[in-house]
Amino acid sequence: MERSKGTSSEPYLRIIGVTKTFGNLVAVDDFSLDVMEGEFICLLGPSGCGKTTLLRIIAGLEEPNTGKIYQAGREITHLPPRERDFGIVFQSYALFPNLTAAQNIAYGLQSRKLPKEQIAKRVAELLEMVGLPDVGHKYPSQLSGGQQQRIALARALATSPGLLLLDEPLSALDARVRVSLRLEIKRLQRRVGVTTIFVTHDQEEALVMADRIVVMRAGRIEQVGTPEEIYRHPATPFVADFVGVMNFLPGYAGPTPNRVRCGSLEFQCANPHDLAPDTPVVLTIRPEDIRLGVDDLSAPNTTTTRVEEIEFLGSFYRLMLRLEALGDTTRLVAEVSSNRMRDLKIEYKSTLSIHLPPSLLHVYPAEMSGIEAGA
Ligand SMILES: Nc1ncnc2c1ncn2[C@@H]1O[C@H](COP(=O)(O)OP(=O)(O)OP(=O)(O)O)[C@@H](O)[C@H]1O
Ligand SMILES: [Mg+2]
Repeated sequence: MERSKGTSSEPYLRIIGVTKTFGNLVAVDDFSLDVMEGEFICLLGPSGCGKTTLLRIIAGLEEPNTGKIYQAGREITHLPPRERDFGIVFQSYALFPNLTAAQNIAYGLQSRKLPKEQIAKRVAELLEMVGLPDVGHKYPSQLSGGQQQRIALARALATSPGLLLLDEPLSALDARVRVSLRLEIKRLQRRVGVTTIFVTHDQEEALVMADRIVVMRAGRIEQVGTPEEIYRHPATPFVADFVGVMNFLPGYAGPTPNRVRCGSLEFQCANPHDLAPDTPVVLTIRPEDIRLGVDDLSAPNTTTTRVEEIEFLGSFYRLMLRLEALGDTTRLVAEVSSNRMRDLKIEYKSTLSIHLPPSLLHVYPAEMSGIEAGA
């Protein structure tokens, strides 16, 4: 049942210009994406951005207004679900309550009219694969939420489909189960090699699981990239804000493409902007990228702050810093290890020098961010 990864450079799944409206509402807006065989794609975005609708279109549960979909070279845009080659898992446990776990898994196999022994063997193999070899005789109500989702996963994989579709399968589970199950799903997906589309609005889940993340906003693609690309080089302030924690400093484009003015401060950035001088901008930096406790206060991109809040988060601290030079409206969030915290003797209300490394600053036009310019 192991699927060898395709050597062909043709995408396994092609979504081309798909649009879906409900009345006046555009749920999916001219969406195009190529997915390679064996890839794990996460569709990530806020509630209502069209993730489920897109997944349902791929499954044939929803008909697009325009656009085409190809799977393994075959056009499937208008095929009914039963003529497509996919397995699906939903957020809420969609197991048949009156069937045992084993019968649930066997469901899709029976409709293929396989011999009984072959079905029993396959069900045992799938139960083993999802780490529940002993629960075949139990009913869904006798299983925990996490166990039910594993059975749902086994059922979705039973016929060895070419495509696995998952719609927030972990979001109803408690945090600990969610974290362990996401790793298991990832491992299983790698082993089976099935091309997977995983819908989530949890950015951490997407970062941990995906080969590539598709960040969606209002039915459209905001950015596609590996987790590292999305986190380190967000294409827009929306992505920067949605994935991870990000600081936004309002300011203006400086006289050269490497400079930004924020109040009385001027920052150098290694990622040049192509904006006219004095264009309102936002300057971004991740909390963990701010260097704390700098000796040379005359160095570029260095300034002093006051520690306004300290949050203890176990392995590190999160600080709320007020920039002395920027008046009362601007704060920066910084993260610091416990050791560094001790070394620098950081306390509530203490003064702390910071440095914003030019290579880790990004500049966006303020109009893209919905954030007020100025300061
Ligand atoms: N059958 C439908 N009829 C009318 N509007 C719908 C229908 N299905 C979805 N919508 C609307 O389409 C938009 C996209 O919905 P969708 O369920 O795809 O979002 P989502 O990204 O999955 O959100 P969530 O994270 O909340 O699950 C929403 O505004 C939703 O209200
Ligand atoms: Mg949804």
